[in-house]
Amino acid sequence: MTLALSRPTAPPVSEQARVPLVTGGDIGYANLDHAASAPCLAAVRRAVDEFLPWYASVHRGAGFASQVATRVYERTREVLRRFAGARPRDTVIFTRNTTDSLNLLASSLPAGTSVVLFDTEHHAALLPWRGPHVYRIPTPRTRLAAVSAVDGALAACPEGPRLVVLTGASNVTGELLPVAEIAAVARRRGARIALDAAQLAPHRPLSIQDLDVDFVALSGHKLYAPFGAGALIGRADWLRAARPYLAGGGATRSVLAQDGGLGVVWNSGPERHEAGSPNTVGVYALGVACEQLGANWDAVIAHEEELGDRLRRGLAAVPGLTELKLLDGAADMVGTLSFVLDGFEPGWLAAVLSAEYGIGVRDGAFCAHVATRRLIARTGGTGGQAVRVSLGLGTTAEHVDRVVLALRQIVARGARWDYAIQDGRWAPTPDPRALPPFLAG
Ligand code: ALA
Repeated sequence: MTLALSRPTAPPVSEQARVPLVTGGDIGYANLDHAASAPCLAAVRRAVDEFLPWYASVHRGAGFASQVATRVYERTREVLRRFAGARPRDTVIFTRNTTDSLNLLASSLPAGTSVVLFDTEHHAALLPWRGPHVYRIPTPRTRLAAVSAVDGALAACPEGPRLVVLTGASNVTGELLPVAEIAAVARRRGARIALDAAQLAPHRPLSIQDLDVDFVALSGHKLYAPFGAGALIGRADWLRAARPYLAGGGATRSVLAQDGGLGVVWNSGPERHEAGSPNTVGVYALGVACEQLGANWDAVIAHEEELGDRLRRGLAAVPGLTELKLLDGAADMVGTLSFVLDGFEPGWLAAVLSAEYGIGVRDGAFCAHVATRRLIARTGGTGGQAVRVSLGLGTTAEHVDRVVLALRQIVARGARWDYAIQDGRWAPTPDPRALPPFLAG
């Protein structure tokens, strides 16, 4: 008798749409755009449904539902703290997404803080920093050189507070950056480290303590909880001392009319930066997604590695296709990659994949314009746009095989439909695909 060992399965996503094809009929949507926004986990959807009858104001109501909602909201801070491997005294501030989190951090830096970052960062991490001491350095070609480049930049910074901003995983290439090594040199130079974990957190366990970073920013919509919440997790002191990110109710302890003006005492906890009624449903959804991932990392990683290998093997056989790479040599990667295909415009390719094959990919420069243009230049290309395929828990082997076969067919025989640029994007002409019934009419 053989014992069948059941293999752990990754948490399933909730049902995905069937999408119409220009050539007729419909097909299950092959969502290969997880890096932009991941589908909702089935467990998250169920949990949100269960919570909705209890949805009520947070921190403001005596009603029982308000108390339940407040409990849900505050308990989720602990869930996020665990998910991120945070230190006991770290704060968890709920935001809208990673961009919001990093802008909050940028608005909380002590005066005169030097900020060091690679110029290939996603715009959320590249753009929020202001002032005379922002050093955007070109990303070197090796992990070792990346660590030395940060070390050199920090050595040249003026005295005073310092912050290194770094992504955990590139949203263009999926490559993992040497976070712990860079954190170690940052520490030696007296700098703090902010980790943009938008692309890392959905794919790999995260530990603020093990990586020895100071702040982590992440987004629920990439973590299978597309309800509009994100978080900034990390050291509380700068945030406690900073001007509230938004001025309004919830951020204040007291407001008094005083000497013709106002005497305002701001909260010193996370509420200081969470003015206005918070997105409790989004926060709860984010917490449930983090619990699901946290309890299933082995299965999540195995699922993605298997499909990632299948994708890379398949794409390697597509004539004229070149994958973009930030770092030379083998780097650990999440299931995201971008490529250019000789003779084909990325926007046109993405439109054909959607219209004729029911596949969703992202094309363009991925809110990382410097990175995308530079990596294309390394391939000998001159443009600033590529196609990105990104895998996740909603991806199946059939989706991977479909995109590989589609690309081979497009290279071999072109498209079966006409396409033209409309409103700045390639689109099928005509486009007979009907919108879903809830949007029709
Ligand atoms: N940052 C998201 C992406 O890379 C939107 O697609």
